[in-house]
Amino acid sequence: MSLAAVPAQAPSGARTPSGAPGAAGAPVAGEAVLRRQRIRESGARTYARSFPIVPVRANGMTVEGADGRRYLDCLSGAGTLALGHNHPVVLEAIRRTLDSGAPLHLLDLATAEKDDFTTALFESLPGEFAARARVHFCGPAGTDAVEAALKLMQTATGRSGALAFTGAYHGMTAGALALTGNVAVKEPLPSGGEVVRLPYPYAYRCPFGVGGDAGADLAATYVERLLDDPSGGVVAAAAMILEAVQGEGGVVPAPDGWLREMRRITAERGIPLIVDEVQTGVGRTGAMWAVEHSGIVPDAMVLSKAIGGSLPLAVVVYREDYDGWRPGAHTGTFRGNTLAMAAGAATLRYVAAHGLVERAATVGDRMAARLRDLAAELPVIGDVRGRGLMLGVELVDPAAEPDACGARPADPALAVRVREACLERGLIVELGGRHDAVLRLLPPLTITDEQAAAVFDRLADAIDAAARDAG
Ligand SMILES: Cc1ncc(COP(=O)(O)O)c(C=O)c1O
Repeated sequence: MSLAAVPAQAPSGARTPSGAPGAAGAPVAGEAVLRRQRIRESGARTYARSFPIVPVRANGMTVEGADGRRYLDCLSGAGTLALGHNHPVVLEAIRRTLDSGAPLHLLDLATAEKDDFTTALFESLPGEFAARARVHFCGPAGTDAVEAALKLMQTATGRSGALAFTGAYHGMTAGALALTGNVAVKEPLPSGGEVVRLPYPYAYRCPFGVGGDAGADLAATYVERLLDDPSGGVVAAAAMILEAVQGEGGVVPAPDGWLREMRRITAERGIPLIVDEVQTGVGRTGAMWAVEHSGIVPDAMVLSKAIGGSLPLAVVVYREDYDGWRPGAHTGTFRGNTLAMAAGAATLRYVAAHGLVERAATVGDRMAARLRDLAAELPVIGDVRGRGLMLGVELVDPAAEPDACGARPADPALAVRVREACLERGLIVELGGRHDAVLRLLPPLTITDEQAAAVFDRLADAIDAAARDAG
């Protein structure tokens, strides 16, 4: 296979001995920082293990480490940075707010910044949904907004349980974790609330062993029949929660038809439908909100990550008739982050005004097509999938027998080597998926054609090299 030369900004491997200057102008001693944080921080450290670098500067898609090496960032704060790092529009909004003397912390008091953010948010939401929506500002993480959405629907319906899907990721606090599918993070803990797990359509590793449209049809039929079975063991639920494209679950897009079926099934049975758009929102999938691909109108949407323009912010937006909450029903100290609201409003408006949603769709399609061509050359690539700039490359053991759907066993050890090989080539790519064998590409929506080409070249070279090492 032929690979274009890695562009000039790829790391040379040379490290500056004293470290690159940090924000305060003094050199940052990267190795010492890494060592101290390894010793002082908890065993639950995550990304710091995958990427032993000490970022000192970042601009757009590029991150510079304390050792002077530069990386193209395809993780983007787990999909947070729609405009990349330190976008001028975001910096300007933050500086303007700082210079205005506006209070930075305000619980949930009324402010001009919150008013403006809410206007920008409602303008960005699907019209039919926004026309009858209310917003609740949550503690500044997606997981808190998931808790809030579930509590809202429990209050509205008087029911306690929930319907959630295989492969789902909704966060790490108790309620959100109960909704999450990943058993490894749940197993060490006492079991959480009453959640019925339903099959999410996943063509490559189909829960019914069928794949394709037939697998998605079965997934919908199963849900409908289970809910209607008086002996099916499912107590009436407060809500169904789903992601239109599962991110942590391995970049698995749900077919639009299946989503419409979930909307029909829940509507007919009086079950509120919550769509978790924490990762898919703000243009990421080639639509401003992922629900727009299927046209479904959910009862609630959980939003975080990109809506804060790189600062922490999380909300639940829901149909006004569900607002049975009393004052203080879901409170929290950090619900009035003025800077995040200013940065978020600027981001939402910039994405809409500069055609970045369409750009995500076009560049994403192009990257996916190139990755599919690569899969034809490299048998370790079992599947390429995604939507817009939320792409996944599932790595498999090509020597193993395929299952009935043609999928070979996942190869998490190879995936770790590819991630390391990517880092060596100046590319930050994280893993996800059921077996941690899916390379997840979440570049900023501002990615240039040259950067997209460089990402592809580095990734292709890394996969090829790691696969050769294995062989
Ligand atoms: C779909 C989805 N929901 C919820 C969360 C939790 O968000 P946070 O990490 O901000 O709590 C995430 C985080 O990745 C997510 O991807």
